[in-house]
Amino acid sequence: MSAVEVMPAQLLAGLELALQARGLSLDYADRRALDSVHLQVPSRRVTALIGPSGCGKSSLLRCFNRLNDEIAGCRVGGEILLFGDDVYAGAIAPPELRRRVGMVFQKPNPFPQSIVDNVAFGLRLAGIRSRLELDDRVEAALRATGLWHEVRDRLAASALQLSAGQQQRLVIARALAVEPEVLLMDEPASMLDPISTLRFEELVVALRERYSVLLVTHNMQQAARVADYTAFLHAGRLLEFDTTDHIFTNPRLRETEDYITGRMRETPLR
Ligand SMILES: Nc1ncnc2c1ncn2[C@@H]1O[C@H](COP(=O)(O)OP(=O)(O)O)[C@@H](O)[C@H]1O
Ligand SMILES: [Mg+2]
Repeated sequence: MSAVEVMPAQLLAGLELALQARGLSLDYADRRALDSVHLQVPSRRVTALIGPSGCGKSSLLRCFNRLNDEIAGCRVGGEILLFGDDVYAGAIAPPELRRRVGMVFQKPNPFPQSIVDNVAFGLRLAGIRSRLELDDRVEAALRATGLWHEVRDRLAASALQLSAGQQQRLVIARALAVEPEVLLMDEPASMLDPISTLRFEELVVALRERYSVLLVTHNMQQAARVADYTAFLHAGRLLEFDTTDHIFTNPRLRETEDYITGRMRETPLR
């Protein structure tokens, strides 16, 4: 299925594209997980990626910062572009790629270190030694996630003492500290309570000013609240891409409608 079939012509006309997947396929040792996926992720917008469990959302996200490289037997075909540069052609070394394209997972994964050391982690890795610069950038990242006033008095405390919602904002601060261009988020709010989820959604909307966000969510209301665009993935294929409004009010495909109205739960076995 080509890009033209997946989304209306002119939908993203004039927008800078942060990420593009072109004819992307992905095979694990014994099965194909993605098949000719064409996806365009516009810069400084939030794009939601939805679809039934097992349809390939996490696999697709991992292609964008080459996390699949770590999985034995996993083969990727087609092209991934980051602001026009081919990610798999080797022009961008994986560590640099992962700085530019940050990832936030479902389960908050702070390191068993202090709050400040968590946020400073990538900065130290990048060779920043100045105490003043580290402090400034840690504070800026914590402010950006709304966590600063909650933790400023206990920066040296263990990150593991924070609540799940705070931990998720902390790992987002850790990702932001190294000034990425894109944030990939894989069901980042699914383990948070309703209040933390609300705060998380406000954060995503605020991040949109500076970052390009690709957000996997199973929460349709969440997609509707935060995403400018929504992509529907089904059985390893990107079937429909449109404004979030359009996807939720007037989807083109029967499959999309079945999924968003809850009539479809599982990816059919192939
Ligand atoms: N590391 C892996 N090795 C083999 N198969 C995998 C691996 N990760 C995912 N898969 C398979 O690939 C398909 C897509 O999985 P995934 O990308 O995790 O889907 P989703 O995130 O949409 O639930 C599933 O059939 C899953 O079992
Ligand atoms: Mg997943």
